[in-house]
Amino acid sequence: MTEHSNAPVHPDVTGFFDAATNTISYVVKDPASQACAIIDSVMDIDYAAGRITYDHADTMIAFVEEHGLTLEWLIETHVHADHLSAAPYIQKKLGGKLGIGSKITVVQDTFGKVFNEGTEFQRDGSQFDRLFEDGDTYTIGTMTARVIHTPGHTPACMVHVIGDAAFVGDTLFMPDGGSARADFPGGDAATLYDSIQKVLALPGETRLFMCHDYGPNGRDIRWETTVAEEKAHNIHVGEGKTKEDFVKFRTERDATLAMPKLIIPSLQINMRGGELPPADEDGKRFLKVPLNGL
Ligand SMILES: [Fe+2]
Repeated sequence: MTEHSNAPVHPDVTGFFDAATNTISYVVKDPASQACAIIDSVMDIDYAAGRITYDHADTMIAFVEEHGLTLEWLIETHVHADHLSAAPYIQKKLGGKLGIGSKITVVQDTFGKVFNEGTEFQRDGSQFDRLFEDGDTYTIGTMTARVIHTPGHTPACMVHVIGDAAFVGDTLFMPDGGSARADFPGGDAATLYDSIQKVLALPGETRLFMCHDYGPNGRDIRWETTVAEEKAHNIHVGEGKTKEDFVKFRTERDATLAMPKLIIPSLQINMRGGELPPADEDGKRFLKVPLNGL
């Protein structure tokens, strides 16, 4: 007879830090099988040169292959504005299904207009294999993952809870980093506060994995903390900070922030699920730069 415990499954989590964009991509492996998921992959770009490369993605592909893993899912926690997704590139090599929050359609509608896309740019999320709703579940091997809709940074943001691990996307940063900005189109500070409360309502020992870390005050890059740590020490939403405090602080702070360096290429590629814009009749591909459009 097998013994059953109530302890949540403890997935093996490996982070891959991208120094160019301060993004952390993850391989999340089922401890009971060879199944895994990749969360928030990165495609490299030298924007000044218009050159796309795949070193970061190739490192993750090599990891999956060397460990004999089966890639079941490619997850985007949201439409990133600071790095380009490599999900289709990885999917072509390793398979797996690509998933994002269902509100991707709102993001596609907004930025389809900003970039003056024609009708060939579908705004129905059909670039993805699965559109998640709040509370949806999916499986990675024997593990069940659950998604929590966490808008505020963007409308499509989702936190993925897999056993005792949660991938928070751009809701929270490490306790000394605070929270993500809420001033992009479709963003809202009060909504972000409410979403963060959903993350902080998870069990205190839940491992939280960040999408970004900037090593504030010169500390080394870190990407893992816990719900209990965030509750006690997060500089924006930790102990004693009210929603009013947060909204005031977040709004004032966001007004001082410059646009992310890669927002223009990131949005055009990520709203397409990581695909490059379609080729013209000569087979060339271009990104647009809308003037005074953001
Ligand atoms: Fe983001």
